[in-house]
Amino acid sequence: GAPVEVNISKLEPGQMLRVEWRGKPVWVVQRTPEMLEELTTHDDKLRDANSEVEQQPEYAQNKYRSIKPEVFLAVGICTHLGCSPQYLPDSFSAQVEGVPSGFFCPCHGSKFDMAGRVFQSVPAPTNLVIPPHKYLDENTILVG
Ligand code: FES
Repeated sequence: GAPVEVNISKLEPGQMLRVEWRGKPVWVVQRTPEMLEELTTHDDKLRDANSEVEQQPEYAQNKYRSIKPEVFLAVGICTHLGCSPQYLPDSFSAQVEGVPSGFFCPCHGSKFDMAGRVFQSVPAPTNLVIPPHKYLDENTILVG
């Protein structure tokens, strides 16, 4: 599959863009400062908080799992059996108390935080996959 260019110049804080790459959904989320702050609050509830299982390129092996902290890319496919998780920017705390934003897979209840890190006690074994990507300029990302 060919690489896909994504223009993020109109992406507002909290918004998600969806693109298709190699037949898979790829999410691009503009994380808010609050969402970034949230990522520091619940490491003890995660299965792989430090992303030691290689689900991301080397340049995204950091606490935000991204190149720029505020811009998050992930393959939008649950690592359990491949459903597409829902983005819950405001109502995720119904799934994990004290965590306002995240991704919830309706198929069997897997839960991921705003860096795509999987919570404990759900069927998904690993964090969401971060696709290979790079910035062509400030507002243009090349996925693939
Ligand atoms: Fe997502 Fe099973 S496919 S929890």
